[in-house]
Amino acid sequence: MSASYALHGPVAVITLDNPPVNGLGFDTRRGIADGVQRANADEAVKAIVLTGAGKAFSGGADIKEFNSPKAIAEPNLLSLIRLLDNSAKPTIAAINGTAMGGGLELSLGCHYRVAAPKVPIALPEVKLGLVPGAGGTQRLPRVLGVETALNMIVSGEPVMSDLLASQPGQKLFDKIVDGDLLAGALAFAAEVADKRPLRRVRDLPLTHPNPDAYFQFARNTVRAMAKNFPAPARCVDCVEQAMKLKFDDGLRYEREAFIALMATPESRSLRHAFFAERAASKIADVPDDTPQRKIEKVAVIGAGTMGGGIAMNFLNAGIAVTMLEMKQDALDRGLGTIRKNYEAQVKKGKLKADKYEGRMALLTTTLSYDDIKDADLVIEAVFEEMGVKEKVFKTLDEVMKPGAILASNTSTLDVNKIASFTQRPQDVVGMHFFSPANVMKLLEVVRGEKTGKDVLATVMALAKKIKKTAVVSGVCDGFIGNRMIEQYSRQAGFLLEEGCTPAQVDRAVEKFGFAMGPFRMGDLAGNDIGWAIRKRRYVEKPNLRYSKTADLLCELGRFGQKTGAGWYDYQAGKRDAIPSKLVEDMIAKHRGEIGVAPRKIGDDEIVHRLVYALVNEGAKILEEGIAAKASDIDMVYLTGYGFPLWRGGPMRYADEQGLFNVVQTMQHFAGNPHDDAAFWQPAPLLAKLAAEGKSFT
Ligand code: NAI
Repeated sequence: MSASYALHGPVAVITLDNPPVNGLGFDTRRGIADGVQRANADEAVKAIVLTGAGKAFSGGADIKEFNSPKAIAEPNLLSLIRLLDNSAKPTIAAINGTAMGGGLELSLGCHYRVAAPKVPIALPEVKLGLVPGAGGTQRLPRVLGVETALNMIVSGEPVMSDLLASQPGQKLFDKIVDGDLLAGALAFAAEVADKRPLRRVRDLPLTHPNPDAYFQFARNTVRAMAKNFPAPARCVDCVEQAMKLKFDDGLRYEREAFIALMATPESRSLRHAFFAERAASKIADVPDDTPQRKIEKVAVIGAGTMGGGIAMNFLNAGIAVTMLEMKQDALDRGLGTIRKNYEAQVKKGKLKADKYEGRMALLTTTLSYDDIKDADLVIEAVFEEMGVKEKVFKTLDEVMKPGAILASNTSTLDVNKIASFTQRPQDVVGMHFFSPANVMKLLEVVRGEKTGKDVLATVMALAKKIKKTAVVSGVCDGFIGNRMIEQYSRQAGFLLEEGCTPAQVDRAVEKFGFAMGPFRMGDLAGNDIGWAIRKRRYVEKPNLRYSKTADLLCELGRFGQKTGAGWYDYQAGKRDAIPSKLVEDMIAKHRGEIGVAPRKIGDDEIVHRLVYALVNEGAKILEEGIAAKASDIDMVYLTGYGFPLWRGGPMRYADEQGLFNVVQTMQHFAGNPHDDAAFWQPAPLLAKLAAEGKSFT
């Protein structure tokens, strides 16, 4: 049983005990139901207290049971709440910690609630594209008022218990107990044991002074904020119906909304992303109990664009950092950028001044390797040249203490080769941050042939500590993300040659939901970075055709926003991308030179050539074992490349389209004489899955 039963004098205490968050799995639900029935049958019992073991009251549905028959087996959550509602003896939820989703709904089935201060309370279902499904939209407004409840339901964000308890007129908490919660709950139970009639949340009145105007306003607001997600608007509907319908009809309305949303692609994508993130942190041959190395001191080599951002991640997590550079002025510049970033956060009120000082106090700078030799982890972020990396890693091998982890932030170079510059390849790993490194969630952890399992386990745990989503990649040119984006960029180039303008491509891709189209992205990141990579890459792969338009652009010095001009024109101090006549003429001239007559290309073709390019390369990456799971690839694209969350990532998007259809479309693209027919041969894994009627995820 995952819930225990104990008598404390005349009070029965049922304790949910299903680590880590007392998820409401089948055994826990059974345990609670048995406890409530037993207490009601025992004449000596006057009241029933429901509480949680450990740090949580209940985090809601048990994710281990998601999509399994156990999740809905009786007693299901609705039946359990009905049982509490109808208990002849008073029921009191003693909310000792986090009460989320089904956990909060369960407590709303009790007659009373007492809580510890500062515990997070939330209905986060909307984050999975759903409405709460066990009465949350019907009961929470009855105890918190329509507006507070609806804000919580459409945002899904936690609010602290004491803050909610201070709301005038609230009936969510009957008492906030400082100190021993169980003792407080037992004392409260004694007070209410004989009180009748029992107060059920479902019977509380629900009013609003101006409901029609309010709900219209709420609907407009959520539609504007979450235009690609249907769930927030449905949350508004459910709360509105809580006012209009009889309680049981309202419950039914909520249930129907829940079931309908479960079937939407948006909710499926959000749930996919939720599980993909958890799955990404697990490595098949690195068990959870793999020993980890202690990381208390970090060193960063190179204080440029990446080095500074990387350092900030550790400072934010309270870990001391030393930055090393070749010259003092480079150090000063790097330090200045970090200060400027933090000061901007202080100005915006996102960071308290004393916290800023605390973070800066953790940062030291040096020109000497002697000052970093004790670091537990060193991350190299110097120029992207093998020769420079070689020098740095040879030096690190000489000076660093035994057991230090030696990481490289390289975005394309061979991590095995970098490891071979040292006598300790087992300590070498890729930690590929994305720019800006203090903002972007993604961290590709590049596993070299010889990278130690303890090193991987340490880096994965550290990623969590610095709030990154870590995805493991094998070694190849570009790893998961940049190897796929190369094919996407090639297609973007071909589209220009065949008749598109940069703005047309960007518009189509942004309409599909990407944060930014490829050309605006290039202007932001700097077109020279891709240029340098192409110079190396296409020397190594002379047979791989690509459009020279991006090179021509760079030859004009149009590197993007930093030079005031790129694929677009920019006005001084502004970031608005203005279509450039000069660039369009440059592309037209190039078309003439290669003998392509421009044609009109629809948005659908633009989007599918770009996205399916990701999919086909992703399938190869999967087949080669560079990525362990399709969902890892999706995580990379959702957290590092602005792929629309409601589409769940490229591999899930392909699944949603049906792999059979994806293959058909690729074969059609292969027939285009201006494209790369060889590339559009479906990857063997994709072809096989499509033929078998299967999917990636
Ligand atoms: P950057 O040019 O802004 O900074 C490199 C810094 O390293 C410079 O300040 C330079 O003085 C310093 N440096 C060079 N050689 C050194 C040495 N031997 N010892 C100490 N310091 C040295 O370059 P960025 O953009 O920060 O790139 C660094 C690395 O991060 C590269 O490997 C790059 O591929 C990778 N990367 C870059 C991304 C980006 O968007 N810029 C994204 C992800 C990875």
